[in-house]
Amino acid sequence: MISIAILGYGTVGSGVAHVLDENIEEVRNSAGEEVCLKAILDLRDFPGDPHEAQVTHDYETILNDPEIRVICETMGGENPAYEFTKKALQAGKSVCTSNKELVALHGPELVRIASEHGVSYLFEASVGGGIPILRTLAGALASEKIDHITGILNGTTNYILTRMEEGISFDDALADAQEKGYAERDPSADIEGHDACRKIAILGSLMTGGYVDAAQVPTEGITRITADDLKGASQFGYAVKLLGSSRRTPQGLEISVAPFLIPEDHPLASVRGVFNAIAVHGNMLGTSMYYGQGAGRDATASAVVADVCEIVKNGCGNVPVAMTGMRVEPAAEEDAAWPFFVRVPRVNKAALFSTFIDAKGQETDTAAFIITAPMKESVLKEKLARISNEAGWIRVMDE
Ligand code: HSE
Repeated sequence: MISIAILGYGTVGSGVAHVLDENIEEVRNSAGEEVCLKAILDLRDFPGDPHEAQVTHDYETILNDPEIRVICETMGGENPAYEFTKKALQAGKSVCTSNKELVALHGPELVRIASEHGVSYLFEASVGGGIPILRTLAGALASEKIDHITGILNGTTNYILTRMEEGISFDDALADAQEKGYAERDPSADIEGHDACRKIAILGSLMTGGYVDAAQVPTEGITRITADDLKGASQFGYAVKLLGSSRRTPQGLEISVAPFLIPEDHPLASVRGVFNAIAVHGNMLGTSMYYGQGAGRDATASAVVADVCEIVKNGCGNVPVAMTGMRVEPAAEEDAAWPFFVRVPRVNKAALFSTFIDAKGQETDTAAFIITAPMKESVLKEKLARISNEAGWIRVMDE
């Protein structure tokens, strides 16, 4: 029997306990032996909770307990999760986590410390919630040259965009997402693209076997998108999605988070609501796509528990992870050329259509739209400055 501990009995931490309770037999079969939840670290008490007796406020009791071999870090945030994780790995305990912030900031160091101490640091739940994307990359797709990963990596923004397709404003869609518990009271990490940025940085790191610093990933959220954009895009046969993308090019790794117009028949266009989907292109396999719940207590906890099983199955030793400290410098963004979808107020329609004379135009009661030929964003901005100071633009994915 292997004993484990949970750090942080919040949404994901309590989900881990729930998955272990519900799937006791499946977990035993997968891990190859019984997995027993021995301790839960939290500042709070949980009177009446079925795991009340396992709650402790003292991390040292967990660290000094030789029976505890695996720790599930579900605290989130950089500190104190970073110190706690390092101490656990140095004490010879494996750690699995849902903490994308910590992995994006310190992943290579924690992976190295784990390897030096003959234990594991796994983070399946940090990307795509319950979608087993990291294990797929490390296992089933390990013999492929992965040249492009692109995906809808944030459920909150996908929910907001899906609601905006129905014609409601960004503010109303955000308020609705908050009411349903999908968006935080401070929604900036989601709507500004930072959450998706950490996830694509982790995927970009694993794709290259190095380390992509999230701070270097050009990131744009969905706050500039209007309901008119969704309407205009649809008239051209496109959907609008916030995509994280990491692609090998001759110029280097192109990696970004930004809203894109994608053709309505593209598989990612049909991903609606809070779901996530990740398309992976391998040189021999072509494109394969992975779809599922990118957030939520039990789905995310299921991925944490899958890591626990992987570790126990491997004798609580080191499960290698392809994330080294070798920094991957992203290719300069200003070199990239895209077709752009452009929106201006209807009063600027004539100027727009006469500037982009070959572009096909569309209009609604309030706005006019075009899709340009591929060009650099700096060139587009120069042209639009002469047309309207209320212009908006979104990249178009045309492949
Ligand atoms: N806020 C995140 C999302 C949760 O909406 O996808 C999972 O990381």
